[in-house]
Amino acid sequence: MSVSERFRRIAARPVVLDVRGLGMSFPGSAGMVHALHDVSFQVRRRELITVVGASGCGKSTLVRILAGLTAHTAGEVLLDGKPVRGPGPDRGMVFQGYTLFPWLSVLKNVMFGLEMQERGADQARSEALQWLDLVGLAHKADAWPHQLSGGQRQRVAIARALAAGPRILLMDEPFGALDPQTRSTLQEHLLQIWQHVDITIVFITHDIDEALWLADRVLVLQPPDAAHPGGWLREIVEVPLPVPRTREMALSPDYRATRERLESLIHPKPPATAERLPVFKLTQAGDEVV
Ligand SMILES: Nc1ncnc2c1ncn2[C@@H]1O[C@H](COP(=O)(O)OP(=O)(O)OP(=O)(O)O)[C@@H](O)[C@H]1O
Ligand SMILES: [Mg+2]
Repeated sequence: MSVSERFRRIAARPVVLDVRGLGMSFPGSAGMVHALHDVSFQVRRRELITVVGASGCGKSTLVRILAGLTAHTAGEVLLDGKPVRGPGPDRGMVFQGYTLFPWLSVLKNVMFGLEMQERGADQARSEALQWLDLVGLAHKADAWPHQLSGGQRQRVAIARALAAGPRILLMDEPFGALDPQTRSTLQEHLLQIWQHVDITIVFITHDIDEALWLADRVLVLQPPDAAHPGGWLREIVEVPLPVPRTREMALSPDYRATRERLESLIHPKPPATAERLPVFKLTQAGDEVV
């Protein structure tokens, strides 16, 4: 299927997530901190979109609002047409930090979301094993979280989030703490899972290559400026690459051009105070260099 045909088909799918004029301001000691300003976008059924942007531009605030963990101060968020007013089983979350319950085995961690839905223990156990199988960790069912590697823990976290049967999976830098090789393996794993599970995904990342590799569309958030009091949506960049993706695509002119476009949009500026900072002397060893 051509890339344009793929985008045409995605555009014809129903909207799952509808974010309209979203704003968020936190009260602070020196006045309000405006984290988000007038952010609007839609995510369609079974899309995987990524969100990139400089540190502090509001990515985590956005995902926490979508999860219902933080209340917004302007606009609205609709999931399947209904306003989001708090956390719910229709949204699964995977964060960067390892969030498994350390006092529960791997299997019990995945069963947790299922038992909340009042399934019988046998049913929950067999479904949890299927989810663990999907993430390639059925053989670790009886292990404890501390006995897993970082990548394995995040795979269990994905299994646990999916087991609860959400409409949408919200991921805030889930692979950010992993080494590059494990990260790349987990990216491929996520795409495989996404092909097998009917799920819509919003994935936050700092990493432009990760954003491009995973998604059809990349949302670029920008920090506040004179015209925008909070983090704002600069652009939604379409990724002109076919699926399934191969790593060789990173060499294509289309990939490079899209990457350069994203790079120029995000372009982190060094802090304005850097040049004014004194050099702090930590020792008096007498080996100063000029
Ligand atoms: N609970 C809070 N109270 C006050 N201000 C907050 C709160 N949470 C976030 N902020 C502020 O909102 C802005 C956006 O923060 P947020 O964590 O969403 O950024 P981010 O894009 O996720 O950054 P990073 O890439 O570093 O994770 C920042 O200025 C931050 O200080
Ligand atoms: Mg963040």
